[in-house]
Amino acid sequence: MNKELKILAIIIILVGITYWGIEPYAHSKMHPHHEPATFKYEDLKPLPLKGDAKRGAQAIQNNGCTGCHSIKAAGIPAPMDPVSASASYGVNPPDLSNIAALIDKKFLANFIKHPVKAFKLEHKFGANRPFPMPDFFGSDQDLADIVAYLESIAKPQEPRGAFETACGRCHNLRYDKWTVIGPKPKFKNEVEKADFELKKAKYEANLKKYLGTTPPDLSMFIRSRGPEYIRDFVENPQKLLHGTAMPRVGLTEKATEEVIKHLEHVGDRKKEKREKLGPWVLAYFVILSILAYLWKEKIWKELH
Ligand code: HEC
Ligand code: HEC
Repeated sequence: MNKELKILAIIIILVGITYWGIEPYAHSKMHPHHEPATFKYEDLKPLPLKGDAKRGAQAIQNNGCTGCHSIKAAGIPAPMDPVSASASYGVNPPDLSNIAALIDKKFLANFIKHPVKAFKLEHKFGANRPFPMPDFFGSDQDLADIVAYLESIAKPQEPRGAFETACGRCHNLRYDKWTVIGPKPKFKNEVEKADFELKKAKYEANLKKYLGTTPPDLSMFIRSRGPEYIRDFVENPQKLLHGTAMPRVGLTEKATEEVIKHLEHVGDRKKEKREKLGPWVLAYFVILSILAYLWKEKIWKELH
């Protein structure tokens, strides 16, 4: 009996060292520490004025936004299909209906005023390589009105909608049949399929020319990098991948959580099941150990 307790104690100590000593150490080496995301966008100035949504509806037309962006909630269609848009701008400008439900208000105003700075892409775009979305030269009141208008039409977003609007113009999500030109439809025949693949390839080629690199398919990133990395990366890509072409898209903390929820749903569908099963497996082992111990005791008693 005494001997067994000693063996048990040694095992517990060894497992403890591995679990509390080596694992966190290895983790800190593989995932170096950085400041966690705050979603405050402190380098940007808040809008000093209060906007008026009614005036904003007019201002957004007057300032040419709808020459590039659709606003489906207001019945304004996209001026071009995604492939033609990517040929002109490098990427398909997102629909603006729900953008204000995802993007931080202060960020949104700063982005409209001077997109490259808010995106933190000054190392990629400048005087000799203009960014496709022009700076805003209207008044601060017009700017505040446009933001108020976008807020007034935005509907809260489900995880999938958040991903598609915020990330879907650059990233495929193969496991969810999402492509950079939209959801992959059911094809009636080979010609339809080839046509779709060609459009997708053309869009991707334009995107690569625009950003200098192909954004990866995000199906598996939730598993390879984990949710904390993605959260911190989205809030400020430059902090984790200095010099990257991935823009800081300015999501609110809530929208980022929605996007991560979608990536978890797509890339790790078994997670919930696995976590529910855990306690049962542990209980099974505990009961098994007790039974094994009682059985052993019984056998030894008979032998002595
Ligand atoms: C010449 C075309 C063009 C015009 C005009 C234009 N945009 Fe854009 N806009 C773009 C493109 C292209 C993108 C996507 C850039 C990217 O993802 O790299 C974009 C992105 C955006 C985004 C998404 C920002 C983010 O954080 O993801 C918002 C919001 C936006 N535009 C609002 C506006 C508003 C408001 C106006 C009018 C004041 C406007 N745009 C005018 C081309 C345009
Ligand atoms: C305008 C295009 C664009 C948008 C919009 C965009 N990304 Fe990216 N993303 C990129 C590019 C380009 C890269 C490749 C970066 C590199 O290798 O330097 C990238 C890389 C990534 C990576 C890999 C990072 C790594 O460590 O390798 C993740 C994760 C990611 N993006 C998540 C997102 C999420 C989540 C969103 C939406 C909230 C999003 N991206 C929106 C262009 C974009």
